Amino acid sequence: MTKVEQDSRLDRAGDRLQKVVLGTLRPRRLRDLLHGVTLGHPLHPAMVQVPVGAWISAAVLDLMPGQRRPATVLVGLGTVSALPAAVAGLNDWAALARDQRRVGLVHAAANTVGMAIYAGSLAARLSGRHGMGRALGFLGLSTVSLGAYIGGHLAYKQGAQVNQSVSELHRMTDGWHSLADMATLPQRTLITREVDDDISVILYRHGDEVTVMLERCPHQSGPLGEGEVQEIDGHACVVCPWHGSAFRLNGGEVVQGPSGNDQQILPTRIQNGVLQTRLP
Ligand code: FES
Repeated sequence: MTKVEQDSRLDRAGDRLQKVVLGTLRPRRLRDLLHGVTLGHPLHPAMVQVPVGAWISAAVLDLMPGQRRPATVLVGLGTVSALPAAVAGLNDWAALARDQRRVGLVHAAANTVGMAIYAGSLAARLSGRHGMGRALGFLGLSTVSLGAYIGGHLAYKQGAQVNQSVSELHRMTDGWHSLADMATLPQRTLITREVDDDISVILYRHGDEVTVMLERCPHQSGPLGEGEVQEIDGHACVVCPWHGSAFRLNGGEVVQGPSGNDQQILPTRIQNGVLQTRLP
């Protein structure tokens, strides 16, 4: 898998596919929906539960006598539901870093072959060739399992679409940490401060309310402190300078992808005119 991460020969095909995906999925709202912005949680891993569950269930039924009909229905359900899951996956893939896109390309290729085999299995079953349909079903399951293994590497080893900032919380010590004098804190300006010397947070004051938010973007660790504040859907949001993800400054909810995760807000209090924060 490390060789795949480093194999630049995949870039030509990857760059072409990325152009096609970005050119096809143009409307921002559609892209955000597919990233899972509306849920505040990545959508692709949730969507793949349907085809995976249907295909595994079909394989179990294929091992039992008299279950041709329900097995055919499940193979059909898995094959049809894999299509929107694949579109959501491609949408996430197009916003990944280059080494992640290489592995993602192989993950997508394995799953595309698996889907084609399942389509063949469905066609065979519908035409009464159940032996062939079963054999193709097991072959399809092996292929998408390989795809799932590669997808696991992409998520768990390479951190694709996982929240990149939340691990900062595990390094933060307990108790309240002083951040700034309220008397000197400007209104409606992003200020960057450090907690425990190396955990970067951003401060945003609006009247007497101050938001303290982790600075690392949950998408790919972009510096939110260097981002812009924009009003989106009536809320002040910080927009990441790297790929444009936007998070509400009054709650951390993601309102614009490619991040599919909300940003972490930290609790605050004011002690003797000093703004303090602590772990949630
Ligand atoms: S790092 Fe990609 S949107 Fe922030």
